[in-house]
Amino acid sequence: MAANNERSFIMVKPDGVQRGLTGEIIKRFNNRGYKLVACKLVQPSKEFMQKHYADLSSKPFFNGLVEYMSSSGPVCACVFEGKDVVKTGRKMLGETNPLASNPGTIRGDYCIDLGRNICHGSDAVESAKREIDLWFKPEEVITYSLVEGPMVYE
Ligand code: TYD
Repeated sequence: MAANNERSFIMVKPDGVQRGLTGEIIKRFNNRGYKLVACKLVQPSKEFMQKHYADLSSKPFFNGLVEYMSSSGPVCACVFEGKDVVKTGRKMLGETNPLASNPGTIRGDYCIDLGRNICHGSDAVESAKREIDLWFKPEEVITYSLVEGPMVYE
């Protein structure tokens, strides 16, 4: 059996939480077969969001993004685990720009604007590790077995 313990950091952004889409986003990952191993509501500070989006600090939209993410209500920070979850999670989210996202993807089904694209997903295994370490203490990420495991992986 291939290693099924890859992890991705998936976050419902303030607009997603405000619009009541937290459950829908978690449900889609669960339905696909991915295991929720960490989940919490967080009201991140501006400094914290600057760290999270550090790679984008030179972009013109950086300040607005950080301001929005830290002052519009809580986010729901999650970690999902399973085979190829980083790449597959990005496919499930859709394109960064919701208008370019296919119907059937989360952004393609639930949003319109680039700056209100309701969710975040790690873009590489390495960034997933960095983001999970930033958002969660080690003991907040839970290792457990699912009884249905053999029904998802052969
Ligand atoms: P980015 O990391 O490029 O995209 P993704 O979230 O798909 O990994 O950008 C982070 C967020 O910044 C993106 O989800 C929405 C916002 N953003 C803008 O507001 N304007 C822009 O032009 C871009 C590229 C992103």
